[in-house]
Amino acid sequence: MIRKFFLAIFLILLVVAAAVFAVGPLRWRATILFDRATGKLDGVNWSDVKWMMGRGTGVDLEHLAATRNPYESIESPRHSAADLEAGTLLFRQQCSPCHGEAGAGGPGGPSLQTRVFRNGRSDWALFRAITIGLPGTAMAGRTLPRDDTWQLVTYLKQILAGTAAGAGTGASAPPPVSIVPVTAADLRDSEAHPAEWLTYSGSYSAHRHSALGQIDRGNIAELRVEWQRQLSTPAEKVETTPLVRGSTMFVTQPPNQVLALDAATGKVLWTFSRDLPAQLHVCCGPVNRGVALLGDRVFVGTLDAHLISLDASTGKVIWDVAVADASKGYSITAAPLAIDDMVVTGVAGGEFGVRGFIDAYDAHSGARRWRTYTVPEPGQPGADTWADDSLRRGGGPTWLTGAFDPESRLIYWGVGNPSPNFYGQNRSGDNLYTNSVLAIDADSGKMRWYFQFTPHDLHDWDSVQVPVLVDAVVDGAKQKLLAWANRNGFFYLLNRTTGKFLLANPYVKQTWADGLDANGKPHVRPESVPSLQGAEVYPGIAGGTNWWSPSYDPESGLLFVPTVDKGAIFYGSAQEPLDETGEDLGGMSMPIPNEDAIVAVKAIEVTTGRIRWQHGGPPRKTMMEMSGVMSTAGKIVFGGDGERFFALDAETGNELWHFAAGAQIWAAPMTYELGGRQFVAVAAGRSIIAFSLPEGRRNLQK
Ligand code: HEC
Repeated sequence: MIRKFFLAIFLILLVVAAAVFAVGPLRWRATILFDRATGKLDGVNWSDVKWMMGRGTGVDLEHLAATRNPYESIESPRHSAADLEAGTLLFRQQCSPCHGEAGAGGPGGPSLQTRVFRNGRSDWALFRAITIGLPGTAMAGRTLPRDDTWQLVTYLKQILAGTAAGAGTGASAPPPVSIVPVTAADLRDSEAHPAEWLTYSGSYSAHRHSALGQIDRGNIAELRVEWQRQLSTPAEKVETTPLVRGSTMFVTQPPNQVLALDAATGKVLWTFSRDLPAQLHVCCGPVNRGVALLGDRVFVGTLDAHLISLDASTGKVIWDVAVADASKGYSITAAPLAIDDMVVTGVAGGEFGVRGFIDAYDAHSGARRWRTYTVPEPGQPGADTWADDSLRRGGGPTWLTGAFDPESRLIYWGVGNPSPNFYGQNRSGDNLYTNSVLAIDADSGKMRWYFQFTPHDLHDWDSVQVPVLVDAVVDGAKQKLLAWANRNGFFYLLNRTTGKFLLANPYVKQTWADGLDANGKPHVRPESVPSLQGAEVYPGIAGGTNWWSPSYDPESGLLFVPTVDKGAIFYGSAQEPLDETGEDLGGMSMPIPNEDAIVAVKAIEVTTGRIRWQHGGPPRKTMMEMSGVMSTAGKIVFGGDGERFFALDAETGNELWHFAAGAQIWAAPMTYELGGRQFVAVAAGRSIIAFSLPEGRRNLQK
């Protein structure tokens, strides 16, 4: 009797206890369902909820119900050794192609070892990064079985903790790249060592001409793709010129990465990625034209106007300086120029009314050595070439790499348009030093002389071309010269010691000037001024040429220039509203309806300005842009027109070979030699392509 009584009590207690234990979870479950239904659980969908309610998920439902924070409450339930192994394998298959081995960073994705994660590092954030991705980036979401995703999360946690196999954090792991430091002398003498390509234009004199001659007119027909490196950039324009040191190639891919590649195979050795602000002020796409090399470092300018020094062996940041305030419209798109122990950079932003400048930084520390503004301050020389206080938003960007003469220690650098671009009545005057070339003392940053190609520019004809340094006989004497095919349609020859104007000749149709005076100043036709009704002017907005690299063969004295013969209708207006990007243009330009254009490479004799030959045409509907060119001792000029990469006979302009790249070529080619073989490389579409000759053809040559 008594035993039965106790048994009954015991059973009742058991039921009560069970009820108590059940009510809690039931209540949490109800809360979670309710919160999900009312959208209070960030990033949790119904299928997630169904999964959580199941058995053995490891989800702390009580905590989740109390905090409504899945990031705190959900942990990967698949964390056994077998899960880790499975996660490692999945990562190799699905993620390493972009993120590299052990997530160290790769061609298509950032390093996960060093990344600052957008949504934190919790298991739930990682789970969501995999399942839904990062919208608007190459990181796409994927639908894997839930368990697979959790296994990946388990492996990612190892990566984040720095304990993943192959994470390479041990001191014994060799760096991915071994690079012999680049000396100041290497840069100075680069023309004598054509196996490497150490600066943007190939040498300080910016000839973009190589003494390599293995590929020549006799064998060019057999040139073929040696390797192709697909980039993962979402951007449309890849404008990088690859640099090559030893067997390593350095390229940039927009908007924010530097890659070290094996120059023999295109294999990615390391990747550097920079997190950029969401809002960037870039007029013409998120472009970057390449890096500079000095010592054991790589230098790159960024779209948010920083200059960064990277370890050339690993891609790790050594220093990072803010060159200018990106929120004020500044950015950097050009490759820097390394000189001695300095790194020189310009800035972009002419469409946003910035005040342009050229800066030099101590390569070792990143400290600024000097700054030379391209627009004076009130009271300074040149300020009287700007009406009222129009110079405060004067423009004058410096968005392309200059040249350097080690003998005179002068840096030559082009300056872009005044602001606003098409309307000039508020800025009457010549608007110094916009649309000029500056000669700057490398040691002090002092301007020694300037030459203004287009005073008071109204057509956006930035004088942002690569300055080409030439030594040749003019007027009976050997002179140090500066050859310049300008965006305004004239080819100019200057004495580069004094800045003296020697000659000019139009190399495309031009209708804006009735010739030039003895000092090279144009007689501007009044009808070329942009107006409300529109003024039809040649050349058009993109110019006769643009930033597209020319090349110069010292043997023949020919300058090879990518050109476009095309006009435009220019509208100018004081009332032009600022558009949503903040661009201040003062008008706009429109194509001339139904006008066909001639796209051509022209060979200009530098000492006369005469055109020796041209390759291009017939006239056709075309986009405005061409690629740069590069010439070689093999008497070949390489260039690109749209999707065609071609090789011309440097003496006649006849086309010898072409390759259908299948995507627009914006960049300029370069060449290098590795293992006794000459390569030609160019960025085409979203890839870097390297060409060489087949084995048999090469041996025939020697
Ligand atoms: C097509 C290339 C590509 C692939 C494949 C890829 N990712 Fe990514 N992933 C990216 C890029 C690019 C980013 C950076 C996006 C950004 O922030 O601009 C990224 C970012 C991430 C992040 C950071 C999320 C955060 O919060 O910042 C994680 C985690 C990640 N990826 C994991 C993975 C995993 C795991 C895989 C394989 C299942 C994978 N990725 C596959 C390109 C890729």
